[in-house]
Amino acid sequence: MKTVPTLFFATGACFALLGMIWGIQMSATGDHSLSPAHGHLNLVGFVTMSIMGIYYALTPAAATSKWAMPHYLLTVVSVVILVPGIVMALSENGEVLAKAGSALAVLSMLTFLAIILKLGFGEKA
Ligand code: HEM
Repeated sequence: MKTVPTLFFATGACFALLGMIWGIQMSATGDHSLSPAHGHLNLVGFVTMSIMGIYYALTPAAATSKWAMPHYLLTVVSVVILVPGIVMALSENGEVLAKAGSALAVLSMLTFLAIILKLGFGEKA
């Protein structure tokens, strides 16, 4: 099984690739109406997940803790729900998904904070 830092980095890179293809499509069509969703895919899916991956890579105690994998899954699910939710909200098709995705994204960050406070940062945390 892949390690937690690898999962965070690899998933983040997949989200970045999707976000970049989406950005190119927006540029090509001149339709930027969904750019907030593209921005969130890149910033939560790629930047945030990569920063979390760096933390886990530098903090083995956190990466091997029982909280790491649930945190990874929660973060992935939050992106997968939040981004289509923003698309739906922007196209006036309801805000339920965006609200659910936002709540999950907050939960993911709260989990990250709890892990940092409990296990510290770095090799000798
Ligand atoms: C191939 C790469 C990319 C292309 C072609 C691209 C293209 C675009 C385009 C066309 C817009 C709309 C601009 C506007 O309407 O003013 C946009 C907005 C944005 N992009 Fe990208 N993008 C790319 C990668 C990225 C990456 C890697 C990030 C972040 C790490 C990012 C974050 C954003 C943000 C935050 C916005 C503003 C969203 C908003 O207005 O609410 N983009 N991008």
